[in-house]
Amino acid sequence: MATPAAHPATDLQALAKRHLWLHFSRMGAYDAGAEIPIIVRGEGCHVWDEHGKKYFDGLSALFCVNIGHGRQDVAQAGADQAAELGFFTNWSYAHPRAIELAARIAGLAPGDLNRVFFTSGGGESVESAIKLVRQFHKLNGKPNKTKIIAREVAYHGTSMGALAATGITNLRQPYEPLMPGGCHVPNTNLYRLPPGYGAENLAEAVEQRILFEGPDTVAAVIMEPVQNAGGCFTPPEGYFQRVREICDEHDVLFISDEVICSWGRLGTYFGAERFGYQPDIITTAKGLTSSYAPMGAVIASDRIMEPFLEGNTSFTHGFTWGGHPMCAAVAMANLDVFEDEGILENVRAHEGDFRAMLDSLRDIPIVGDVRGAGYFQAIELVKDRDTRESFNDAESESLLRGFLSSELFEKGLICRADDRGDPVIQLSPPLISGPEEFAEIESVLRPVLEAATKRMLA
Ligand SMILES: Cc1ncc(COP(=O)(O)O)c(C=O)c1O
Repeated sequence: MATPAAHPATDLQALAKRHLWLHFSRMGAYDAGAEIPIIVRGEGCHVWDEHGKKYFDGLSALFCVNIGHGRQDVAQAGADQAAELGFFTNWSYAHPRAIELAARIAGLAPGDLNRVFFTSGGGESVESAIKLVRQFHKLNGKPNKTKIIAREVAYHGTSMGALAATGITNLRQPYEPLMPGGCHVPNTNLYRLPPGYGAENLAEAVEQRILFEGPDTVAAVIMEPVQNAGGCFTPPEGYFQRVREICDEHDVLFISDEVICSWGRLGTYFGAERFGYQPDIITTAKGLTSSYAPMGAVIASDRIMEPFLEGNTSFTHGFTWGGHPMCAAVAMANLDVFEDEGILENVRAHEGDFRAMLDSLRDIPIVGDVRGAGYFQAIELVKDRDTRESFNDAESESLLRGFLSSELFEKGLICRADDRGDPVIQLSPPLISGPEEFAEIESVLRPVLEAATKRMLA
């Protein structure tokens, strides 16, 4: 057993530094001088740290807390369920909350996406979808259809299957060799189109890759409605409709990875709805419970489930906590809030205001592009707006980690300063926010971006 450091039990900083291994974090950066941000409380669009300092949660705690923080009613739904049936599994058993939630999700999901397989998070959903499409094709007599086509710079999770779909070199390399069969095509970064492509023919890259690999070897395409990593890449007109056609032509399944883009983030329950396409499978998590409890789901069409209904066949896959009754009760309460309080309507009513606020920052010289949909937007930062020249790695490091991340946080705004593609600031506020909250975001963002411009372009 590790020996606890000799710190007083109340010293959360010291205990965190000694014992808590943060995800995706440079732990070495938290030396004696640098504090780990410790968030202790949340209410509405705001959270407070251990010192009592208030922050605007401009990222909904990683695209999660869609209905905002501190909802007693949603918390109570979990507590009530725990008292009634704290846990039972979905391995061969059902319980009322999982059944009710599955039916409710099926009623909201587009088309015949009627079959709901619960997981405990987004990565588990993607991993499950990858296994599902492989087994589906095997059951249909096409055992060689195993490859997954995803897009460059896209993030689909970190487990070994999901990581094969993730298209971010730095996240993949430490764990290679990955699951074979992860193939990547250009994303829809319309600000920086790949050579040889126009916005109108980007989808053709998917068909070219399927033909290159051999259609008999390709199981599925996985894409987010708006790609998060790289900074909120939206699809050009007709893109997903063409991808759907290509998939149908080559008997390739279409997985819409909506871990972020479902549950109102784009103003609709599902991102596929917003862009008018019909996937075979949707993977989701985060906003399903507004993350008051960890839960994800794979939502599959009737056609996908069909071969699993034959004879002795089963989807030989599962997780102990998939469909956890407390999480399902919390999800039901979360969806009640969506219905009772017009969460989708709020996003639709105000997404234009949100975007207008961000567009108003375009006079700042390092603001190169503003893009996204709904309450999911990004600002790309550039060295030269006319030529679209980006910052090099060292400059990007100095801009994002050396200044913007800490400065925005210091000034009370939590958002994402990211350079998994070119450097961007991402904003994804709780879906209850409106013009007053956008003004609060701007009051921090504008002066900090102006100061960053002075630093970088001096
Ligand atoms: C599109 C997408 N897929 C999968 C994941 C993985 O989800 P999780 O972190 O819940 O495993 C994420 C996480 O942000 C995501 O954005």
